[in-house]
Amino acid sequence: MTAKTSSVLKMRATILKINRSNPNLSKIRLAAETIRKGGLVVFPTETVYGIGADAMNASACRKIFKAKKRPSDNPLIVHVSDMEMAEKVAIIPRRYRKAIESIWPSPLTLILKARAGLPRVVTAGLKTVAVRMPSDEIALELIRQSRTPIAAPSANISKKPSSTSGKHAIGYFLKSVDIILDAGNSKFGIESTVLDLGHFTLLRPGAFTMEEISAAFMKKPKLPKEALGLKEAKKALSPGMKYRHYSPDTKLMLYEGDPSRLKSILSPWKGRFAFMGSGETAFLLGKMPVKSIILGSRKEPRTIARNLFSGLIYLDSLKAEFCITESFTEKGYGLAIMNRLRKASSHKHFHTAEELEKCLR
Ligand code: TXA
Ligand code: MG
Repeated sequence: MTAKTSSVLKMRATILKINRSNPNLSKIRLAAETIRKGGLVVFPTETVYGIGADAMNASACRKIFKAKKRPSDNPLIVHVSDMEMAEKVAIIPRRYRKAIESIWPSPLTLILKARAGLPRVVTAGLKTVAVRMPSDEIALELIRQSRTPIAAPSANISKKPSSTSGKHAIGYFLKSVDIILDAGNSKFGIESTVLDLGHFTLLRPGAFTMEEISAAFMKKPKLPKEALGLKEAKKALSPGMKYRHYSPDTKLMLYEGDPSRLKSILSPWKGRFAFMGSGETAFLLGKMPVKSIILGSRKEPRTIARNLFSGLIYLDSLKAEFCITESFTEKGYGLAIMNRLRKASSHKHFHTAEELEKCLR
């Protein structure tokens, strides 16, 4: 084969299906070897899929940014399998140690002071590092077998919705990573919560609720407007807050008014728009939308959260002119749901029926 033809050949990932109830350890071992050799592995976590590389290998981590088309000033989360590994990359404040030990492994990412020796590409040059110990058994085993912390952002092309199934990740990364571990659907379907421990500030609501943080640390974190998705951070509270996120190609409009008004406002658009939200509101709209993507019952925010990203990804296959989504109470998982919806709708928010009506006229 000539050099010319080989350079034209594209990489194709090896897809390894893993059965959660009887995981095949040799597949995880193969993925771990790939991490150790500086390759890229997409792997499941309890929140969303991650695209991972050896956190101590700068050139391997650089490949993540390329595959994701991620801006280089947006740092990565370092995934660890035990406290010892966490201490190799970060300084764990003594006063919080007990609380952290009781919480981890869980979907809570902590911003901590970084140890020297971590490649700059991981922290994007910051003095802090994001660290998380996932509770997913496959993720934990992969980190253990790799014998190195794994740097991994969510497995999606930058700005696109995160992968909550192996199928989504294959869609994004078949041609740009070495291995995809496919273990089906993610348990939470929404990313980890990011807590800046130094300032005790919530940077991103996620699968570990505010209520759980308050109970574990016996105090409530600060909740800046950026964390609610109400505005974009000007200053880098968290670099990720500066960027558009989770955006489907279809124009998504977030309606925060009374659901019972929607049917009459949308009637001129019958058969042209999609709806994504609760089963209760879908029922009110009946056959009016091209399709209603039902995320779950309003009474079950956890189910809504779990189905949210797959709903956003599915939306684009419908080719609707626009999609209406609705608001949820910002308690428990509701905080993370609203953060994602506000970002996904790129701030096209309508607080009242009148505002939406005016825009659609
Ligand atoms: O659930 C999750 O957290 C998934 C899985 C794969 O673990 N990962 C994930 O990573 O969502 P990513 O990169 O998509 O989101 C991490 C967020 C970004 O918004 C980033 O800006 C922020 O954490 N972050 C990372 N390091 C930081 C730091 N030192 N200070 C402030 N924010 C940081
Ligand atoms: Mg992400």
